Amino acid sequence: MNISDLFANRMKNMQASEIRELLKILDQDDIISFAGGIPDPTLFPKKRFESAFSKILSGKNAEQSLQYSVSEGYLPLRHWLVEYMAKLNVDCDVDNILITSGSQQALDYLGKMFLSKDDVAVVDNPTYLGALQAFRPYEPEFEPLQIEQKRNGRAKFIYTVPDFANPTGVTLSEQERRRILESAEISDSIIIEDAPYKALRYSGSDQTSILALEMEDGKPVDDARTVFCGSFSKTLSPGLRVGWVCASKEIIEKLVLIKQAADLHSPTINQMAVHEVVQHDFNEHVEGLKLVYCQKRDAMLGALDVNMPNGVSWTKPEGGMFIWLKLPATMDATKLLKHALHKHKIAFVPGHAFHANGEGINTLRLNFSHPSIENIQTGIAELGQCISNFT
Ligand SMILES: Cc1ncc(COP(=O)(O)O)c(C=O)c1O
Repeated sequence: MNISDLFANRMKNMQASEIRELLKILDQDDIISFAGGIPDPTLFPKKRFESAFSKILSGKNAEQSLQYSVSEGYLPLRHWLVEYMAKLNVDCDVDNILITSGSQQALDYLGKMFLSKDDVAVVDNPTYLGALQAFRPYEPEFEPLQIEQKRNGRAKFIYTVPDFANPTGVTLSEQERRRILESAEISDSIIIEDAPYKALRYSGSDQTSILALEMEDGKPVDDARTVFCGSFSKTLSPGLRVGWVCASKEIIEKLVLIKQAADLHSPTINQMAVHEVVQHDFNEHVEGLKLVYCQKRDAMLGALDVNMPNGVSWTKPEGGMFIWLKLPATMDATKLLKHALHKHKIAFVPGHAFHANGEGINTLRLNFSHPSIENIQTGIAELGQCISNFT
């Protein structure tokens, strides 16, 4: 029996990438990796979680914490998120909040909810690879977002990471956010505002979220076309898988039905622990993260200035975890990666995979949140050598 003959058509869109295969060797200790998109694990609030889990499991809610629960999510955490969203100028109530297992789950559910085969999904170009992976099984046509011009054609949604984007680190200005809103109005589509890095700003000033811009224009959240996806993965812990969606009740109600069918609910005890931790000095914890990540960003930007040969340019992010490099037009970053791994013991992600339309051969993504400052300095010097030697 040939099992692959039995796979549904959508499985054709789910292929392991060549890059993932290349990056398997990252487990070797001697490689300096700028490839992961992950937080610095030394900054996880381990003590706070230790006391949160122990308080929950020894308290009156211990049984509740280990029991099945409602699909909408742990009510006290949803209440906390209503307050949190209010600080972002989004006026909503608990019925506008769904807890998800990270924002990745929200992307899958939104794909399931809005995309039929051949529907148009407009996406940042380049965009978050995990979003392309989440949407692809629903067999849409991807169209790259061109913020400079208003688009006219039909589309189900516009997906964007407006703050310190993965992979570019770029933040959209208010004017660009408004242009996306105008385009969505013209094509009568929703906007998926994926904002997992929003709290991690190290310089410059905050940009109003697209959902909050709609409210500024007098729309209540239940009439808004923007779906805001948030996450505790970048501020607390990705391993707990706790994120949320804030959107109109109509959208939340449908997402709840999808969640019921998919996984019933996100882990109860993790939601309770997150609630326990965020109630006590969450801001102080985030300020601590920002101090360290800001130093790492500056170390990487400084090292790039010193070590990159002519013809290489890069973004200067005001927050988040990534810097995006553009190599001379003739260079192929996937070939460069092979050379970098084997000859220089450094890793990054070639930019090609982040483009729905196959562009970006000469681009690559560098992560600065995970490596130590020392490794950033050594590794970027190696990368400079590697690019200079690679012709
Ligand atoms: C833009 C973006 N969206 C969503 C996610 C998924 O995050 P989560 O851990 O909340 O599922 C990531 C993770 O890297 C991301 O970069």
